Amino acid sequence: MNDTEKSLQYRVGNIDDIEDVFRLNRLVFDEAWSKDVLLQSLRFGYDLQVCYQQNTLVAYVLSQDILLETEIMQLCVHQDFRRLGIAKKLMLMLLQDKQDMEAMILEVRASNTAARLFYASFEFIQVGMRPHYYRQTASQPREDAVLMSKHLQVA
Ligand SMILES: CC(C)(COP(=O)(O)OP(=O)(O)OC[C@H]1O[C@@H](n2cnc3c(N)ncnc32)[C@H](O)[C@@H]1OP(=O)(O)O)[C@@H](O)C(=O)NCCC(=O)NCCS
Repeated sequence: MNDTEKSLQYRVGNIDDIEDVFRLNRLVFDEAWSKDVLLQSLRFGYDLQVCYQQNTLVAYVLSQDILLETEIMQLCVHQDFRRLGIAKKLMLMLLQDKQDMEAMILEVRASNTAARLFYASFEFIQVGMRPHYYRQTASQPREDAVLMSKHLQVA
């Protein structure tokens, strides 16, 4: 384990982390969620897992359970902390937490190769497509969403 990895702390997130989540979410995504929407999502029962280096949030995953499916709503890692296995660790925490669910699902931009490869490395498979789902943003074109799913329980 290198010094950066040693300095990272993973834990379940809560309402006190929302200001940091809002900032990182604005940094990473063109279409960020507002602070209110993030707050409401936690009050509504979404789950948050976070990774901090000292007082700085470097990554988080926000998910929602609907019946026996967990939907990953947002997963992001600060640009300076990518390819260190941080998203992998957060996903392992989430999978551990959701082992009683039947499936995990998500939507991802068709052009988001990093995320698609990341999910593929956890054996998520493409199960559908939503044409033109994502609006055009300052830096990205109007684009299809790829639906990915991972079966969690052996029947
Ligand atoms: C996708 C994202 C969350 C990955 O986070 P990360 O911490 O860098 O990923 P990890 O280091 O845990 O990678 C685990 C594995 O995923 C795959 N992977 C991750 N990023 C990759 C990339 N840029 N290119 C190819 N494979 C990649 C690899 O298999 C990697 O294993 P390896 O490093 O041993 O080869 C990160 O790039 C990110 O925040 N992107 C912007 C936000 C986003 O797109 N979120 C997902 C929207 S649904």
